[in-house]
Amino acid sequence: MSDTPVLTRRPEWTALEDHRAQAMRRPRLRDLFAADPRRAERYVVRVGDLRVDYSKHLITDETLVLLRELAAATGVAGLRDAMFRGDRINTTEDRAVLHTALRAPRDAVVEVDGENVVPRVHAVLDRMGAFADRVRSGEWTGHTGRRIRNVVNIGIGGSDLGPAMAYEALRAYTDRSLTFRFVSNVDGADLHEAVRDLDPAETLFVVASKTFTTIETITNATSARSWLLAGLDGDAKAVARHFVAVSTNAGKVTEFGIDPDNMFEFWDWVGGRYSYDSAIGLPLVIAIGPERFREMLDGFRTVDEHFRTAPAEANAPLIMGLLGIWYGNFFAAESHAVLPYSHYLSRFTAYLQQLDMESNGKSVDRDGRPVGWHTGPVVWGTPGTNGQHAYYQLIHQGTRLVPADLIGFARPAGELSDELRAQHDLLMANLFAQGQALAFGKTADEVRAEGVPEEQVAHRTFQGDHPTTTILAPRLTPSVLGQLVALYEHKVFVQGAVWHIDSFDQWGVELGKVLARRVEPALTGGAEVPGLDPSTAALVAAYREFRK
Ligand code: F6P
Repeated sequence: MSDTPVLTRRPEWTALEDHRAQAMRRPRLRDLFAADPRRAERYVVRVGDLRVDYSKHLITDETLVLLRELAAATGVAGLRDAMFRGDRINTTEDRAVLHTALRAPRDAVVEVDGENVVPRVHAVLDRMGAFADRVRSGEWTGHTGRRIRNVVNIGIGGSDLGPAMAYEALRAYTDRSLTFRFVSNVDGADLHEAVRDLDPAETLFVVASKTFTTIETITNATSARSWLLAGLDGDAKAVARHFVAVSTNAGKVTEFGIDPDNMFEFWDWVGGRYSYDSAIGLPLVIAIGPERFREMLDGFRTVDEHFRTAPAEANAPLIMGLLGIWYGNFFAAESHAVLPYSHYLSRFTAYLQQLDMESNGKSVDRDGRPVGWHTGPVVWGTPGTNGQHAYYQLIHQGTRLVPADLIGFARPAGELSDELRAQHDLLMANLFAQGQALAFGKTADEVRAEGVPEEQVAHRTFQGDHPTTTILAPRLTPSVLGQLVALYEHKVFVQGAVWHIDSFDQWGVELGKVLARRVEPALTGGAEVPGLDPSTAALVAAYREFRK
């Protein structure tokens, strides 16, 4: 039995409970700013190109001290060092957690089981770069000798969300003569729509799967191979020119029929949701080129170094992680919104959903004991102004507390016309206005002063006190994207460490997979499936009936 103290019985935890119940019983941001006019300068941390402003939070210096004491007591720094060192901190899978080694410089030494893995990381990066250059230059041709114009990534979860998000984020840096598509859903419509207007002779498939056993990916890859062969006179030799794989499982890749020479490797110490800076980023390297990809890795590394070395008072991922704990555990906030004011970050929150919710959606601690405290929040959000005209109403005037991150850039990315560039100030004015309105609201007296009839005053009053972090950077570049992703990776790490959970396994997705395999024969072949519960059995019967 573990001797780790129960989190909620730690004195640092109960001190936070007391602080919330007394000093922070009804915190008002207007009062906090009035009491400390320098708050807007003091509650800012710089990391790389990112300026992280956490002044609009329901906190005081005392709150921050207490939160840092909680982090110290729960051993966040020790676990962080163990992660960077390559210890097997993913205990339920008995694996090291070394996505940070993926962006280590060539001369770094990071050992797993006594072997320095950095040379292998760079050997794969070099191969990816060389391959991407061949595709981009037209030297790598398809089976009929035509150059590749379309790249279709087939993967799911971490083998899809990362490259798909980063491709969108860095679209301004992509080779516009190439078309990129990302297929993940086992719904045949996904592959159909992705390839229906493509010429197989000019299409390269990247089959991305850490395990190479994921049913969605293998099913889609098999259908993609049929589509390719149907378009190329059934010549099986075509597969070698049109399929490459990214995986940790060379055996399964070969079994599928992909030439091992066309496989790009990564390792079991890279979690799926932490993998897009590994070979999983291959479509991105083809899209933006190896140099830009390395700039992105440098961005990741900047934040890794910051997380590893910055003091607790100025450590951005630590502060963001602790703020999430403050709201989730002491204000009963159930969700966290990530609201980028950048169209290019349209997939960023979806990417973070897996990063955060698959990592910290746990209800037993590292020792297998049920946790008696809330763990990861529901993460949600869409780009900026679109959300304002949809769900911001609930954040402003609903009954729930929804802490949010607002992410914006001083200059637009992309080669926009002068007229479209000018729209950027309007976009950012919205970000700043939302942060202000959420924090400070509008009092009833202010509403009355505008001449609003008394019966409408309550409806038009804004409580305020909705906390936000504002993350501002000069421009969305490959490096800045790397910085942003690493910031969130480490934020999630901090929270998992405090909650004493294993943030690197994902057993919760297994049961559904197993049951789907069991139910499928009942749908396709009409076989009786023993052991189906009455509700699911009735649904299966209805499905069969509808299907006739
Ligand atoms: O959803 C579970 C999961 O294992 C994720 O963690 C992973 O990113 C995804 O499936 C895809 O797995 P693979 O890369 O092995 O196909």
